[in-house]
This record gives sequence, structure tokens and C-alpha cells, in this order.
Amino acid sequence: MQVFRTVAEVRAQSEAWRREGLTIGFVPTMGNLHAGHHALVQLARERADRVVASIFVNPTQFGPNEDYARYPRTPDSDSDGLRVHGCDALFLPSVEDMYPFGTMGCVQMHVPGITDILDGAHRPGHFNGVAQVVARLFNMVQPQLAVFGRKDYQQLKVIRYMAREMSFPVEIVPAPTLREPDGLAMSSRNQYLQGVERQLATTIHRVLLQARQRAGQGDAIARIESEARGQLEAAGFSVDYAELRRSDLSRPTDPTERGLLALVAARLGRTRLIDNLEFDDDAG
Ligand code: PAF
Repeated sequence: MQVFRTVAEVRAQSEAWRREGLTIGFVPTMGNLHAGHHALVQLARERADRVVASIFVNPTQFGPNEDYARYPRTPDSDSDGLRVHGCDALFLPSVEDMYPFGTMGCVQMHVPGITDILDGAHRPGHFNGVAQVVARLFNMVQPQLAVFGRKDYQQLKVIRYMAREMSFPVEIVPAPTLREPDGLAMSSRNQYLQGVERQLATTIHRVLLQARQRAGQGDAIARIESEARGQLEAAGFSVDYAELRRSDLSRPTDPTERGLLALVAARLGRTRLIDNLEFDDDAG
């Protein structure tokens, strides 16, 4: 696996592969990679001739009181894992490369509508930062396809919207959420969980499964949501949201309509976790 630290290097390799007629699949990450990330690499491998992963902890998508400074940085084990899972190139840009005029002087992006709700409402500016860095990474790596996990469902929607609206010639490929045997969705932030919090964290998946079951039975949406919230709070979570949405993230009126999903964001101690469950195959 080749390791590139500058834009010029990764672009030169990308252009060389393109000249040879090879397609490039891209997996952008913030590092601290686990099996969920490796599955994204494997999916990119199946869909493209060459796979590039990036590791960049993007300062512009963290709020002032969030975990940018303590976000786990594990470049050596990340690099080993990527190599084992068949990644061809790892791109490790610096903050200076990503934001040559500084994070205050950079071009801003805002995806309207879907960034104002759910995580966007609770983490103001977060999705602007995500859109901003993903657009830059697309320009730098120049992939034909890019893989994003469905665990970050709203992020996936934001990136799809941005790529389509700005005519990026990149296919956005969603990848299923990987879970621990007890149902907890894999996330780099799981390692913040202390002692009993790790077990309590499985409440999120249980609550999502129950929401799906209750929706299937036709229970009122408001009741399903308030019970989900209540169960999370009883387990010690401080809940940002526990909601049912349509696949375009609008509010449903009928719990039995197709394409619904339940989404949760909640804090346990200092750890904020998000997860979702798509009720059927229509949740795009
Ligand atoms: O999902 C992530 O890890 C990040 O939000 C991403 C897409 C790599 C952008 O920094």
C-alpha cells in the first residue's frame, strides 16, 4: 500500500490510474479504523479497480465543545488494517494541505434543508464541515465512486445531495451498518464508553428494534418516539433525538408507510452515540 501525504502525490497517482483505464473507489475516514471501516474498503474493492482511503480528523466538522482534540488518532494500526484489507493507497493530508488559507479563510458550504434537522440541529455547522471536507477530498482523490456507511444516515444524505447538486462525477455507494454481537453499532467513539456504559449502550439498538416493531403494529408515531426516549433516559442517556423519519428525512404521518427509519442520537456520560434502523428495503 502506498502512503501519500500531499495533494500533488495522491493526484498524480489517481491520474496515472485513470490513464490506465482503472477505476478508483474511495473510502474517506477520520481514522481509528475498526471492522466497519474495513467493510467499506472491501465494498470499494468489489466495485473498483483501485481503492484509496483517507484519514483526516476534520476540524471544521467539530463544534467548539466537541471531541476534536481527544478524537482517537491511531495511524499505525489504521495503516496495518488497511493494508490487510486490500487498500491500494492511503492519503494522509495535513490540515494545511486541506485548508491552505486556514479554517477561517476557507470556502464555506451549506447544504440546505436536511442539515438543519436531527444532528444538524444538535451540532450546528457539523454538516457544513462534512460537506466542505468531502468536496475537497473528492477534488484531491478524483474517485469514480466513494463508500459511506449507513450508520451516518444523515451524512450519507447530505453527501449524496452535495455530489448530485454540484455535479461531482462520483457515485455515492452506501454500506450497511456493522454491529457488535450485542447489537451496538460499530463506532470509533465506542471506546470512550467507561465500564457499565458499554453494556448500557446496547439499549439504543434495542430501542430501535422495538420502534420498528411498534410501527409495524400501527402504534402512534408520537407514542413510539416518546417511549423510545423514555427507555433511553431510564438507561441513563441524555437524548438529543429519537425519531421516526421517511427516507428523505421528512416527518412521516403513518407508522406503517414503507421506507421509514428510526434514528437516535444520545449521550452516555461524555460519549455521544448515533444509530438508526431502516424498517424495510425502501429506506433509500
Ligand atoms: O464519517 C466520517 O468519518 C467523516 O464524517 C468523513 C466522511 C470522513 C468526513 O470527515
